Amino acid sequence: MTKINDVATLEKDGEIAVLTLNSPPVNALSGPVREGINNGIKQAIDDADVKAIVLICEGRTFIAGADITEFGKAPSGPSLFDALAMIEHGPKPVVAAIHGTALGGGLEVALTCHYRVAVPSAKCGLPEVNLGLLPGAGGTQRLPRIVGPEKALEMVTSGQHVGAKKCLEMGLVDELAEEGKLREGAVAFAKKIVAEKRPLKKVRDLNDKVEAARGKPEIFAEFRKANARKFRGFLAPEYNIQCIEAAVNLPFDEGIKVEQKLFRELVTGTQSAAQRHVFFAERQVWKLPDVPADTPTIPVNKVGIIGAGTMGGGIAMNFLNVGLPVTIVETKQDALDRGLGVIRKNYENSAKKGRFSMEEVEKRMGLLKGSLDMNDLADSDLVIEAVFENMDVKKQVFTKLDAIVKPGAILATNTSALNIDEIATAVKRPEAVIGLHFFSPANVMRLLEVVRADKTSKPVIATSMQLAKKIGKIAALVGVCPGFVGNRILAQRQREAQKLILEGAMPWDVDRVLYDFGLPMGPFAMSDLAGLDIGWSKEKSQGATIRDVLCEMDRRGQKTGAGFYDYDENRNAKPSPVVEKIILDFAQKKGINRRKISDDEILERCIYPMINEGAKILEEGKAIRSSDIDIVWINGYGFPVYRGGPMFYGDTVGAAKVLAKMKEFQATMGDDFKPAKLLEKIVAEGKKFSDF
Ligand code: 3HC
Ligand code: NAI
Repeated sequence: MTKINDVATLEKDGEIAVLTLNSPPVNALSGPVREGINNGIKQAIDDADVKAIVLICEGRTFIAGADITEFGKAPSGPSLFDALAMIEHGPKPVVAAIHGTALGGGLEVALTCHYRVAVPSAKCGLPEVNLGLLPGAGGTQRLPRIVGPEKALEMVTSGQHVGAKKCLEMGLVDELAEEGKLREGAVAFAKKIVAEKRPLKKVRDLNDKVEAARGKPEIFAEFRKANARKFRGFLAPEYNIQCIEAAVNLPFDEGIKVEQKLFRELVTGTQSAAQRHVFFAERQVWKLPDVPADTPTIPVNKVGIIGAGTMGGGIAMNFLNVGLPVTIVETKQDALDRGLGVIRKNYENSAKKGRFSMEEVEKRMGLLKGSLDMNDLADSDLVIEAVFENMDVKKQVFTKLDAIVKPGAILATNTSALNIDEIATAVKRPEAVIGLHFFSPANVMRLLEVVRADKTSKPVIATSMQLAKKIGKIAALVGVCPGFVGNRILAQRQREAQKLILEGAMPWDVDRVLYDFGLPMGPFAMSDLAGLDIGWSKEKSQGATIRDVLCEMDRRGQKTGAGFYDYDENRNAKPSPVVEKIILDFAQKKGINRRKISDDEILERCIYPMINEGAKILEEGKAIRSSDIDIVWINGYGFPVYRGGPMFYGDTVGAAKVLAKMKEFQATMGDDFKPAKLLEKIVAEGKKFSDF
């Protein structure tokens, strides 16, 4: 065996050279890996006894892409293009042997090899789009030459990982090797092509599929149209499409030039920086400085839920979906029947859409038990309370639970705003109490805020995070404060939105600005969707807010056909002249002199106080890192991924600009805009939120 460098070795198996890369964790194409490929292939080419070369990886996967940590830094060692040229233009066939995932630059290496062999469990994909990028090492030019432009468009704009069997059908892989016997399979394949004297198959020379699509611009027009909603605001999907268009319309080398130019634009832009930040933030969020990975956890085999309302039912589904039995407790039979009925209906709807079989529906429902007796939760390992949002009710429930549930179990609350430290005073084991704040619909939304109370034990935290992963959530550990992280920040935006419509904007102005910023909808469209009457009571309403006035007129949102907007029979929203008049009258009654408010002011007043609140949350230690706040807002509230979350957005515009605007607003509009100490500190020290 010859050592090429620290990450690459070359071995000979008869007349086949095997070049092995070993760069944990995912064999990303760092400088040493590129060097290992370049020099290893060269050495094998120079060895006259070698007739073909197998490129294979150690560890959990084939090359999973470029080394994302290298972007934005000066590259070292040979470029990826040098290494690829060494493979493609060399005189000896190179066979890529794929296990795990061949992703991004990894698949591009494999596409440059003359043949590809994979084990059945392997997957291939070009996920660059998810990092705000496009495959920048020939992937957009080679992939359509094998699979055709339609499939290539799907793959590069979705970033999906395609299983090896499908790859074989599409021609992306030439042969499957037996699972666990990749090396033997790839070497045997290499021997076969040598014996058969097969020519070097260069993907760059395959032109049938791209030529067949030439002169058919409708392929691209239709694809853009069909995906317009999905791609809204993102640059990378459009740039990927343009590259596939170039593959169809230009010779290979010209197409490569287009790909390189567009790649450079994306990799130096703010969207890709934001999406790369999110990639690492999603992995960081699980790392808890004072709860190390080896913290003991509590086995959770049985889950209890109290309250079968909107949240309780959705929460239950998460556990049923992964095969954990759930007992759900209600106070009355009809509420229980209703709750169980909704769960069944949700599952049946999924089955009707073909997501799983009716048998699976029955399997999941078979794990669910309804009860009117809290004693049935005695042997639960985890109980989640999801009853009405009322401190006294919650405390009573917890005191009762304390007397019933076995020692060592976790007692969780799904409260959205109540003080969990106070809830914990209702039990004799406050260390077992934690907040598990699911978002509605709880079976769909990816975010879980794990709320650590003063006395919550580390095993309870560690178990909660582990369970979150098991049920497919992304969990952020946060501290107890009003609204925790997500809703506390939301409150800032809601307050400004309400003020803005009295001072001069209309609800549709605010909504348009925030929608164009990239949010799924603005605050008023959101209120109409959720229902304006959440937390509103007819008896107590005194017309003190615009919402009161609207609810009193039975304009309670989409469900009543009118709210801040008017709705037609298809629920299309139209600005409402009635609402406009209500707002004007209301402002006049309050003695507010309405003025013209610019779109910039709307955006800055809605977003900068959110960033400022994030800074307060950090200085109070209620979130571990600024990137955790980004994770909460991206996954719980639809903050645009391409802006990286509110805190990353703060870094993008610059903390100094945010601070200056907050001060300017504070001078004219008061202490709603009082800058956080941390914001001042960051600016004074010339730092970024992400340094925090
Ligand atoms: N570069 C640098 N680090 C990477 C990386 C990459 N491409 N891919 C993964 N890592 C790191 C992760 O940050 C993580 O580090 P940590 O342990 O310190 O947190 C570690 O490797 C393990 O990653 P995961 O936790 O994600 O491990 P999984 O086993 O769950 O998933 C994976 C493995 C499917 C390979 C997943 O990591 C992944 O999807 N990686 C990114 C793949 C990708 O986007 N490739 C394209 C890169 S861009 C490119 O290639 C440009 C080219 O066209 C020029
Ligand atoms: P809901 O009103 O839909 O359901 C509450 C259920 O609890 C009712 O079915 C009620 O009969 C039952 N219940 C009340 N007291 C009980 C008791 N002592 N024992 C057993 N069952 C009892 O309320 P929802 O929306 O599900 O909210 C529940 C909790 O989740 C609240 O704390 C709320 O703040 C929180 N939450 C709600 C979100 C939402 O969007 N609806 C989002 C996140 C959290």
